[in-house]
Amino acid sequence: MARKIIAGNWKMNLLHHEALELVQKVGNYCQQTELNKVEVIVAPTFLDLAAAAYLTKGANLSIAAQNCSEHKQGAFTGEVSLDMIKSAQVNMVIIGHSERRQFFGDTEEVVHTKLQKALSARMIPILCIGESLEDRKSGNHEKIVKQQLQSALRGRAAENLTELIIAYEPVWAIGTGETASPAQAQEMHHFIRKQLNEMYDEAMAARTSILYGGSVKPSNAAELFSQPDINGGLIGGASLKYEDFVSLIEIGKKELR
Ligand code: PGA
Repeated sequence: MARKIIAGNWKMNLLHHEALELVQKVGNYCQQTELNKVEVIVAPTFLDLAAAAYLTKGANLSIAAQNCSEHKQGAFTGEVSLDMIKSAQVNMVIIGHSERRQFFGDTEEVVHTKLQKALSARMIPILCIGESLEDRKSGNHEKIVKQQLQSALRGRAAENLTELIIAYEPVWAIGTGETASPAQAQEMHHFIRKQLNEMYDEAMAARTSILYGGSVKPSNAAELFSQPDINGGLIGGASLKYEDFVSLIEIGKKELR
């Protein structure tokens, strides 16, 4: 059985005090509410990670980094290593988000390296994959997603991937207000699970959580979360507002299987 997950990706939003206020509110909610096996994650910026982890210790809320360096240590100005993230009591990391692939040179090779290092460091990776609008229009979306998946996971055995989380995020649906239709999302999630089955085995494919990301909001979440191969959401914009994020968790509690 795949884990049910509602994850908030805060991207480069919220000032330090705003981030801490929000993480505390979400933490209190997670502590006081029966979550029906839905796991809740938020990913603040590096600046807020350590304080967010400290403030929500024991609160049934996981904190994730939005990125990590592919280097272990040394003269890499502005970078943050996996060891540093771990030392802030954070054990999850988003890898290969399309904004990093698009704007910060995270090529498939870089994504592969970061994922391998995160797994070796026993961190839980949230691997993001997804096609661009051109790929979708030209009918290449499955080919691209398959390639991203194979490239990132290359060389890893199923037993190293027990905690892997995948987020399918069509680039054309991120921050645009445009969502993949529930049928389009389900089709791709099913395709990804089929690839995992072919690359590994049925058990690995069944236990891997595949989250949908791209303009998820309270008004469209129920339809998306009720699809059989969607195990949760990676949510950007709507995770910045406490009421919206909580309402997405509530929808997840009802709809995710
Ligand atoms: P969005 O972002 O919900 O604002 O579209 C999702 C993401 O990029 O993770």
